[in-house]
Amino acid sequence: MTDALRIDNHLDADYFERTLRSDVLNGLTAEFKELPPKWFYDDLGSELFDEITRLEEYYPTEAERSILRARAADVARLSEADTLVELGSGTADKTRVLLDAMTATGQLRRFVPFDVSEGILRSSSEQLLDEYPGLQIHGVVGDFEEHLDQIPTGGRRVTALLGGTVGNFGPRERKGLLTDIARGMQSGDMFLLGTDLVKEEGRLVAAYDDARGITAAFNKNVLRVLNRRLGGDFDLDGFEHVARFDHDDEWMDLRLRSLRDQDVHLTELDLDLHFAAGEEMRTEISAKFRRSGVEAELAAVGLDLIEWWTDERGDYALSLSRVR
Ligand code: SAH
Ligand code: AVI
Repeated sequence: MTDALRIDNHLDADYFERTLRSDVLNGLTAEFKELPPKWFYDDLGSELFDEITRLEEYYPTEAERSILRARAADVARLSEADTLVELGSGTADKTRVLLDAMTATGQLRRFVPFDVSEGILRSSSEQLLDEYPGLQIHGVVGDFEEHLDQIPTGGRRVTALLGGTVGNFGPRERKGLLTDIARGMQSGDMFLLGTDLVKEEGRLVAAYDDARGITAAFNKNVLRVLNRRLGGDFDLDGFEHVARFDHDDEWMDLRLRSLRDQDVHLTELDLDLHFAAGEEMRTEISAKFRRSGVEAELAAVGLDLIEWWTDERGDYALSLSRVR
């Protein structure tokens, strides 16, 4: 590790033990079975997500990239930031468009990627270190729900939450996340948020149920994570991927449906679970937004929308907001 790269990991064995255990105990013993989506992202899950971003059906990544290409210079100019913080940075692939614009003006000093997936955070940080000489990279491995206060302070900052990741949180958790993000911002700092927009159901379902089955593999990967970390015996072939658009809540609802009556044992929790044939467990929601909703959610946590940019087709939006 060189001085230009520092990575702090806040996820110790105790974190996994405590958080995964309680998520599984609360989520899978309830009548409606549900798991939080953060458990998708072990090394394989991060790779599968990266593959999803290259699928023809999965439009959000390219839509967001096209907006970034058109607007990154505006973000650099309007923010005058010397630090870019990216929450849920993953491969930080599209981030390069922002890094290019912010280094072109000579203003950028530091990049702070934050992710729950240590492997992807390390590999992306090491690559960026090579690609952007002179840039300080201070990575933080942590969970949005516990470790946002570990993000280094100082500098004039843009905090980015891209890819539509905010949509993977339900309305109440989203309010908590946005509150915590706003709390970590100083006067003059800006927030760059990527949101997928409500659109025709057929395109949404195709994006989350692709013909090659990559999203299905990504979804089932959570079972592999439970098998490995909790000594489970989930049979991945005993479940099928289900992706529906919920018109009332305007979110994609991803589930795993049991193909037969089956029992699963999790040794580490000394827990037996029963799945009836056809029973579903929800593994992710992916909310689709409208401008009015995004503006109101930002305003509710003290962030004023100053720019709303969409791609040509109107599929996706990037918004820039500022602490009131
Ligand atoms: N920003 C990238 C990646 C999006 S995938 C893009 O736009 O393509 C979502 C990312 O958020 C993953 O890298 C995942 O590891 C991370 N993530 C999901 N839940 C998280 C949580 N609770 N805390 C921190 N990171 C999380
Ligand atoms: C990371 N997140 C924004 C993705 C999404 O579109 O909600 C995760 C994903 N799930 C299935 N496909 C992609």
